[in-house]
Amino acid sequence: MRHGIIEQYRQHLPVSDSTPVVTLYEGDTPLIPAPRLAQAVAPGLQIYLKYEGMNPTGSFKDRGMTMAVTKAVEEGARAVMCASTGNTSAAAAAYAARAGLDCVVLLPNTDVALGKLSQALIHGARVVAVEGTFDDALCLVREITARYPLALVNSINPYRIEGQKTGAFEICDALGDAPDFHAIPVGNAGNITAYWKGYKEYHASGKSKKLPKMIGFQAAGAAPLVDGAPVDRPQTIATAIRIGHPASWERAIAARDESCGLIDKVTDDEILEAYQLLTTLEGVFAEPASAAPVAGLRKLHAAGWFRGFEGASVAVTLTGHGLKDPDRVIKTVPHPVVVPATLDTVVRALGLER
Ligand code: F0G
Repeated sequence: MRHGIIEQYRQHLPVSDSTPVVTLYEGDTPLIPAPRLAQAVAPGLQIYLKYEGMNPTGSFKDRGMTMAVTKAVEEGARAVMCASTGNTSAAAAAYAARAGLDCVVLLPNTDVALGKLSQALIHGARVVAVEGTFDDALCLVREITARYPLALVNSINPYRIEGQKTGAFEICDALGDAPDFHAIPVGNAGNITAYWKGYKEYHASGKSKKLPKMIGFQAAGAAPLVDGAPVDRPQTIATAIRIGHPASWERAIAARDESCGLIDKVTDDEILEAYQLLTTLEGVFAEPASAAPVAGLRKLHAAGWFRGFEGASVAVTLTGHGLKDPDRVIKTVPHPVVVPATLDTVVRALGLER
């Protein structure tokens, strides 16, 4: 039974008995073994999919948002604000509604997936689309929240990281220890920061014996951490991670280096191939950004990076549900054929006749 991540991991989180918990019973998402996917992309490795699409608003952001909105309420805030490529705004809008707070959202005016935009709108957030990127929007949010009484709930809010670190706890609880590797998409770099913090804290408290190598993946057209310089016009079909100035830059690099991991990039074509392998080989539907680490595992495996690690376990965070971005499916796979509603034509269309 789900309790929500604050109840579940209370002793690891900055809450007290009087903290007014705002929860939609997020977390406790499945960790799905993916042997057919592993055979296809990285034979010899044991892949586990942390399916964060199963959270209430369909992404990992709910873990961070239950904490951020809970603390905003505790501190007396009346309204929250965020910039977003979509998922953060969906979560902020839902948790704000749950808490009876106003929510203000700045989105880039292009490339926000329809499911995410719909969520922010239906939960009653005030949504403004700015003619710019996510990075421009976040810059504005920082300025506005410094001047007006709005609580900032992007991942530069430390409570977001606190909530999101529980993803690492759940993986350790499910496996009985940390995995050997943790693969994750990287955009604004809050989540890789959060997972690494979670793994380190569980390890320090004796609840896990090892620490994973953190392997992060950016989209090739939005890979500032890999290329070593900010990107002013990031481009990728994985719109969730179309970010050129990651706010948690240093902490992502620290996660990489402290864990002896790496951060690499994958092309949109590689992402789309991985996106379809996930759905067709394992029946797991995640949005394109979530497929980046799967594409990354395939790339690293082909390059021999996992030599000497046969049998190693790899947890992959599938950060968002595939239904968030239905347009991408329609652009990626063949459409249904249309035939008259007769037995003959349907049998012929299915290739069943001899
Ligand atoms: N995957 C998905 C589905 C995301 O929505 C995001 C970030 C990431 C990966 C990257 O996580 O930023 O912590 O490195 N989405 C943010 C948003 C930026 O506004 O929804 P990160």
